Amino acid sequence: MAIANGADLSLYHLLDPEILADPYPLYARLRNEDPVHWDPYLHAWVVTRYEDVLQVFQRFSADRTPTPERLATLGMEGLTPIAKVMVRQMLFMDPPDHTRVRKLAAAAFTPRRVEEMRSRVEEITNSLIDQVLGAGEMDAMEAIANPLPAIVTAEMFGISSGDHRLLKDWSQDFAEMLGNFQHNPGRAGRVLRSLEAMTEYFRGAVKQQIARPTGGLIEALAAATVDGDRLTEEEVVANLIITMVGGQETTTNLIGNGLLTLLSWPEEMERLRRDPSLMPSAVEELLRYESPSQHTARLAAADIQLGGKAIKQRDAVIAVMGAANRDPQRFPDPNRLDLGRHDNRHVAFAWSSHFCFGAPLARLEGQIVLRTLLARLPDLRLKTPHVEWRPNLGLRGLTALWLEYSA
Ligand code: HEM
Repeated sequence: MAIANGADLSLYHLLDPEILADPYPLYARLRNEDPVHWDPYLHAWVVTRYEDVLQVFQRFSADRTPTPERLATLGMEGLTPIAKVMVRQMLFMDPPDHTRVRKLAAAAFTPRRVEEMRSRVEEITNSLIDQVLGAGEMDAMEAIANPLPAIVTAEMFGISSGDHRLLKDWSQDFAEMLGNFQHNPGRAGRVLRSLEAMTEYFRGAVKQQIARPTGGLIEALAAATVDGDRLTEEEVVANLIITMVGGQETTTNLIGNGLLTLLSWPEEMERLRRDPSLMPSAVEELLRYESPSQHTARLAAADIQLGGKAIKQRDAVIAVMGAANRDPQRFPDPNRLDLGRHDNRHVAFAWSSHFCFGAPLARLEGQIVLRTLLARLPDLRLKTPHVEWRPNLGLRGLTALWLEYSA
């Protein structure tokens, strides 16, 4: 096939619902024809091979949010409140700022805190299933994949689990911006209002939890100390927001995409039912096969070579994890689902210093939900072969997933 002039390899084709439903042929063309590809529509380099994606995570800058001053020079002052929060979030920082914030956050979000959630995740999953068991059918997104991570986040934060719908709405708004190349001016007003509301809410929650400790993550983050250093209130709020968003949309997608994938590979699903000890490796394979977060952005800190291309300082680079995770140079027979796959070091949680902060919790939730559903609904099946992917180019997930089972 001829080297493309840019138009037919653009990631903007993901706006076409048919390509969004199966982006893997487009990714394969990018990997084969132009693995470090200048996308003139996105005005960014698109990187699709596994080895190159690792390079992006190791050598490029995460400090990619325009500062309030830069927005002013671009005449986009309206977005300043969003930028003010984002520049304080660990996801958009480089060392030494990133190292400092991540260390303080890790002092609060400990492995013990995650392990303590295990029995609650089991109880919440069971009670969500109880609510739909008698119906014989459910939209698994509405019944389980959306509410579960929202309730878990609320409980872990130490706030009322009755507020989980608020958290879900806010994180969906924020994710809208993160997933769509941060280019969705039509939605900016809604994101701004939502950001204002969540900032206000978390400010209040920090004050409340300091006055009346609940043992939740909010209080732990506000109190975390490393070598005498602490986060400011604005840093606590900004990083609660990124933890809330990071913890919800992606985990929702792991559950929804994971279920759809298992139901589309009945022999693999049966293998897992017969041998539940495969579950940890199954969840890794599901993360590789239908990665909930398909791509993320970085900037070139200096002029740099990647895959034979000369990338200029401050050029934007998009690392496509969804493509790297199907790279045949790294994963033999990558389009096959193999729940027992060995050496499965996928990049669904990214790599290196920004490796997902909540991966242990995401794995715990994914494993418990799938194990419980397979055990309690032995004849689970798709109600209709037609599924609809949500119009978010980066956060890959379903709008609805109708399933049937014996009531
Ligand atoms: C299946 C579920 C999840 C997936 C696929 C996922 C994926 C990712 C990816 C790809 C990144 C790196 C993005 C980048 O470098 O640009 C990331 C970072 C992050 N994730 Fe997750 N995530 C998941 C669940 C969670 C959960 C449950 C939490 C919190 C409870 C969380 C919190 C975060 C945070 C705070 C960061 C920023 C880390 C840093 O910049 O150092 N994520 N995640």
